Amino acid sequence: MVEDGSKILASVVASQLDVHEKYGGVVPELASRAHLRAIVPVVRSALEQAGTSYQELGAVAATQGPGLIGSLLVGLTFAKALSFARGIPFVGVDHLEAHIHAVSLEARARGEEIPLPALALVVSGGHTHLFEVHGPEDYRLLGRTRDDAAGEAYDKVAKLLGFPYPGGPIIDALAAYGNPNAIPFSLARMKGNPLDFSFSGLKTAVLRWVESHDLSAEIQARRQLRERVKRPTLEEWLQVTSQQTLDLLASFQKTVIEELLRRLELAAEQGGVRSIVISGGVAANRGLRRAAESGRLSFPVYFPSLALSTDNAAMVAALAFEKLKRGVSTPLTAKPYASFRMSPS
Ligand code: KG4
Ligand code: ZN
Repeated sequence: MVEDGSKILASVVASQLDVHEKYGGVVPELASRAHLRAIVPVVRSALEQAGTSYQELGAVAATQGPGLIGSLLVGLTFAKALSFARGIPFVGVDHLEAHIHAVSLEARARGEEIPLPALALVVSGGHTHLFEVHGPEDYRLLGRTRDDAAGEAYDKVAKLLGFPYPGGPIIDALAAYGNPNAIPFSLARMKGNPLDFSFSGLKTAVLRWVESHDLSAEIQARRQLRERVKRPTLEEWLQVTSQQTLDLLASFQKTVIEELLRRLELAAEQGGVRSIVISGGVAANRGLRRAAESGRLSFPVYFPSLALSTDNAAMVAALAFEKLKRGVSTPLTAKPYASFRMSPS
């Protein structure tokens, strides 16, 4: 729940990790059922946290896409029904645009404005997209992943090695204990658009490396640890992870970061921008933050706080506020969309 586009009154995130962990990824049918179970309690607790009621809401927003249609439908239908019942405007929001907006929301709350045009990199479990941002709803797509999203690469490598879903946070934590130069994975070579990304070659290289080293005993030990302990601590993970695996994780992470940063550098060199925004679940990565803020990128770099890096509703509400301010709302006939589109209509 957001007031005036930058004041977060309540932020409630219902985690589905327990549902998806067993399968090492998101199962669409289970995801939409979990949404259905969560939506009413989540809205209620947001109202409670904010000390407000349905009667006081000025507008209601929901993510329209891109994403899994079944899950999007739950939020969209609830929001439209609330809009209809209370006679308040409804705003359908694009998920990627909302990730970018998470950064402006927090900048504004600090009394700052992000200098535009900006390069915006959205790196999540579903997307790795690079935009040039000129203003609200004024975006140009510069490049995107040709295969896996960066977060997806983390999740797949984690699954391969017996770590839980999502893979990003645990690999990030363990990579700090490994040597990032131990395994020289090569960077993707791109034909065509040099600002496109690719992670499937790296994923395959990790797979080959795992196959040619005897890691089965420790992978088994990690699977057993997950069965025994609901949320293992970092120390417990370290006890079942060899130095060569830590080196593998550090080298993998270094390559992902390099893949992201060199595209940003290349895009920044082309000129025309004044700042860089990095958002989405992978923006929570400590290694990425450190590397991007090391001064290597010749523009000010903005990240969201950790809480607003991964999926949240505050960024959706704040973006909806900006749209409403410009007189944009969404008809109740609006449908969810599965793939990238950026401007919902
Ligand atoms: O934005 P998000 O919460 O959901 C999507 O829109 O996909 O991003 C989730 C993704 C997952 O793939 C997860 O492994 C990754 O973000 N992630 C991270 C970290 N925290 C979450 N990846 C790398 N390092 C992290 N610290
Ligand atoms: Zn997301």
